[in-house]
Amino acid sequence: MSQLFTPFTLKSITLRNRIAVPPMCQYSAEDGFTNEWHLSHYTSLARGGAGLVIVEATAVSPEGRISPACTGLWSDEHKTGMAAIAQGIKAAGAVPGIQIAHAGRKASANRPWEGDDHIAEDDPRGWQTLAPSAIAFGANLPKQPQKMSIEDIQRVKADFVASARRALEAGFEWLELHFAHGYLAQSFFSAHSNLRTDVYGGDLIGRSRFLLETLQAVREVWPEHLPLTARFGVIEFDGRDEETLKDAITLAKQMKEIGLDLLSVSVGFTVPDTNIPWGPAFLAPIAERVQRESGLPVASSWGIDTPELAERAIANQQMALVMIGRAHLANPHWSFKAAKALNVKDPAWVLPTPYAHWLARYQSND
Ligand SMILES: Cc1cc2nc3c(=O)[nH]c(=O)nc-3n(C[C@H](O)[C@H](O)[C@H](O)COP(=O)(O)O)c2cc1C
Repeated sequence: MSQLFTPFTLKSITLRNRIAVPPMCQYSAEDGFTNEWHLSHYTSLARGGAGLVIVEATAVSPEGRISPACTGLWSDEHKTGMAAIAQGIKAAGAVPGIQIAHAGRKASANRPWEGDDHIAEDDPRGWQTLAPSAIAFGANLPKQPQKMSIEDIQRVKADFVASARRALEAGFEWLELHFAHGYLAQSFFSAHSNLRTDVYGGDLIGRSRFLLETLQAVREVWPEHLPLTARFGVIEFDGRDEETLKDAITLAKQMKEIGLDLLSVSVGFTVPDTNIPWGPAFLAPIAERVQRESGLPVASSWGIDTPELAERAIANQQMALVMIGRAHLANPHWSFKAAKALNVKDPAWVLPTPYAHWLARYQSND
């Protein structure tokens, strides 16, 4: 029997299966506002049968956007569009989730298909980026960020809290804090990017402080009965991997104590020169270790794109949820495909009735 198609309960929320659509930026918003693209995109993904659909990295402040086309929740006006998306996801039987984010020194960038690099200094579309220290990422993102003052840090934490409250008011039931991928929170954690000598830098305790305080502050406004999760890069593949992993597991345990419900295990992406062993499900053994040693349920992604790989990750208890990203862009009905491949009884009924009725007895190899 397929383990992938078993329900998963976290706090008061039950997902219909272990398949999640991870946050994926659409770079299609204006001034942070969603539009018809986002509504149809997220609703289609939910209709495809996944248990959880997480809306893309949504900025907690204008300067926290990766690009000028990223979504935001820094004002109450943003709630209307987001509420329609949350409702669309829920009506299709999936749980509506959202990732809230601050891009730090990787902000002020062009869309991936327009260069994926920092917006030129003399281009009025760009803005001053913020980071724990005035150190640029490098490579395609050479812009030097401004070192954050203590006031900046307090303000960004408050921005996370305000955005979390708006996400709740918009109807989201699963919140993910973006602490990964070299963006602001991850860059506080990493000794590569955080050279501060005050309480927000230095040793592991100092470098963890921004993340733990932000989590704590959000936990106070995000209801106890709803899942509060974070995405975090537990490894960089920069040659210091065992040390980083141990530090990450220490942080995960502290986050669990504060009230984190699940960790989405990812890569740090804090430095450009790394040796990432790209390959099918390459992060799954690392996710499994983090889950075992931290005691937190984990989710993970990266190259888990076939039903067999997804089933194996769940059946081997490497993770509680599989995040299927790009394969969902290729086929929003990926869950249907997986249900057929894994011989789930009546796989068509993974889809909504107006589709399932016609497919229940239809044979195809798709
Ligand atoms: C178009 C695109 C946008 C993405 N945007 C985000 C994002 O907003 N937040 C995030 O944490 N990861 C983001 N990612 C990473 C994905 O969530 C996922 O981890 C990655 O695609 C690997 O999973 P996959 O191999 O199943 O695609 C993005 C990936 C893609 C392809």
